[in-house]
Amino acid sequence: MRVDVVTVFPEYLAPARLSLLGKAIGAGTLQLHVHDLRKWTTDRHRTVDDTPYGGGPGMVMRPDVWGDALDDVLESLSPETRIVVPTPSGIPLTQRRVEDYAQVPGLVIACGRYEGIDARVWQHFSKRFAVDELSIGDYVLAGGEVVSLVILEAVARLMPGVLGNEASAADDSFAQDRPGGALEGPVYTKPRSWRGLDVPTVLTGGDHGKVAEWRLQQSLRRTASNRPDLGLGTEEITGQ
Ligand code: ADE
Repeated sequence: MRVDVVTVFPEYLAPARLSLLGKAIGAGTLQLHVHDLRKWTTDRHRTVDDTPYGGGPGMVMRPDVWGDALDDVLESLSPETRIVVPTPSGIPLTQRRVEDYAQVPGLVIACGRYEGIDARVWQHFSKRFAVDELSIGDYVLAGGEVVSLVILEAVARLMPGVLGNEASAADDSFAQDRPGGALEGPVYTKPRSWRGLDVPTVLTGGDHGKVAEWRLQQSLRRTASNRPDLGLGTEEITGQ
């Protein structure tokens, strides 16, 4: 899969060359192209923003600069490419959407800064491409660069050969195959006893059926406690 990121801070994407993402890039599973938006500026100061029409604080990114950048970046890309615009006013990023992105040939992630990008850019490009304005949570970041790393990492780990153990993505919190989309429960490793704390005996007893049942209970309990909004209450645990 190909991912193009357009940003005024291309160096922000350097961590994408590390670890799991770095390996996916090295193996050719992921082609990452990072573009400096200022390349498409035309003035001496390489200006990308201006004051908002209608007044108010902050600056808005100019449609002419973004338009030229996206014309060039999208020119050679598949019409199935998705444009992703990180913004706190977007639709929430979920594991479902990540799974969907893992199926498309490419993403172009348009990282805004300041008060955002002139809305006409999306009016224009949504005539030819699917455009998703996307939020990664109910808090405000300074720009979309961190969001692009989040998307890259979440998508790359679903791609074949990227995780060492293919089974582990299916077992994740929020993964499609997990019963009811509950969260993953607690995990343990050696030593069996540490600072007076023992690993739950069910996990060392060798009964796989009991282990599976215990993990399900733990998962539902954690979901009810940490994420009551997911709607998997204690009824699922007790059957009442
Ligand atoms: N840009 C600033 N805050 C953001 C958020 N929460 N999600 C996506 N993009 C953002």
